[in-house]
Amino acid sequence: MTRLTASPGLDLFFRSSSASLFVRPQMAIEYPRRRPPLHNDPLDMDGHDAHSDPYQSDDDDDDSNSDTSDAVVEVSADEFPGYFQERGGRLFHSHGRSPYPLPVDAEEHQRQNGLNQLLRRLIGDSSVGPVRELLVDAPGEQRRVLDLGTGTGEWVLDMAREFPRVRFYGVDIVPIATRYPPPNVTFEMHDIAEKFRYDSGSIDFVHARSISMAIRDYGGLLPEIARLLRPGGLFVSNEWARSPVMLDGSDIDIHAPSTAEFFRAVRDTLRERRGIPTIAHKIPELLQDSGHFTNVSSCPFFMPTGPWHEDPGLRELGRENRDMVELYARSMRAVLIDGPWAAQADTLIQGCINESWRVPGLGLLYHTVHARRR
Ligand SMILES: C[S@@+](CC[C@H](N)C(=O)[O-])C[C@H]1O[C@@H](n2cnc3c(N)ncnc32)[C@H](O)[C@@H]1O
Repeated sequence: MTRLTASPGLDLFFRSSSASLFVRPQMAIEYPRRRPPLHNDPLDMDGHDAHSDPYQSDDDDDDSNSDTSDAVVEVSADEFPGYFQERGGRLFHSHGRSPYPLPVDAEEHQRQNGLNQLLRRLIGDSSVGPVRELLVDAPGEQRRVLDLGTGTGEWVLDMAREFPRVRFYGVDIVPIATRYPPPNVTFEMHDIAEKFRYDSGSIDFVHARSISMAIRDYGGLLPEIARLLRPGGLFVSNEWARSPVMLDGSDIDIHAPSTAEFFRAVRDTLRERRGIPTIAHKIPELLQDSGHFTNVSSCPFFMPTGPWHEDPGLRELGRENRDMVELYARSMRAVLIDGPWAAQADTLIQGCINESWRVPGLGLLYHTVHARRR
């Protein structure tokens, strides 16, 4: 692992990034460590004048879902470098078990934050699913939302502004979210392949966006998500299909052969070298088959790549998404140079970037699914 102070590039990253005072678990996680917080629990209701402060929650700091409980400690400044490693001039996570292959540096922050805005415009809201219905304010009930693989945490921050009385948790293996979250947000170090510290049935809404490269066995994650959710709680998954498409269904290999080839190489290398399958379109079935969820509802969205759409809003979306595709292709170099397509990596990347400007009808599918805990 490279010491961060040795590299001017990485110094710049730390100065320009919003590396955060995250919390991490204090000890090996066992649960339940304490009495589970119950909805409609009279013990959570006494003495709270929650309406006097927009960010005041009904949460009891003395439960294991609290960021001030003894279950967590703050990540100190000198621990930060240990979460990162440098390769080829880019910064990656240093977690031993996560297969996640993309960098986590300033360029990736730009991509994550940019996509957060674009996806809100594409979907027309911060999330699919009956979120408002679920997070409705009810006296004496603390609503809790958990975001898996939160990254720069922009989704959580948007939601926390919109729902100031709801308590939000964002977990990741690298501390790249803001240093100064609002009081209803906790960013936390956690590997989503491990059991969570939160009590069973204590979360109202689990949100997962673009985590399909963070975990090899997406289906294996579902029992733990189900354990965390209260009955009727909501799970929302959002994943990109790693296959470009033409809006009219015509053959991508004819209209955008370089883009098709680039994504083929990405899928092959992720599967062969990292054991990461292409999963986006299978998540509804995984949810059904798990037996833990009901009301499984899926909806794919078409995101244009490039400024070709006749609708002005979608044309602007496509223009901005083109920049995201370019950042993605450049970040994917780290994957491609490690596999059977290594010799062609730069040609594939450049071909994908070139076509993103000039193929009318080109886009990507964004799969969203929502389901309720049985
Ligand atoms: C593509 S980014 C998505 C970030 C965020 N969900 C968003 O949509 O903006 C994937 C994130 O998953 C994180 N990640 C990778 N492996 C993980 C793991 N095992 N547990 C938790 N987070 C992980 C990465 O560090 C990265 O921030």
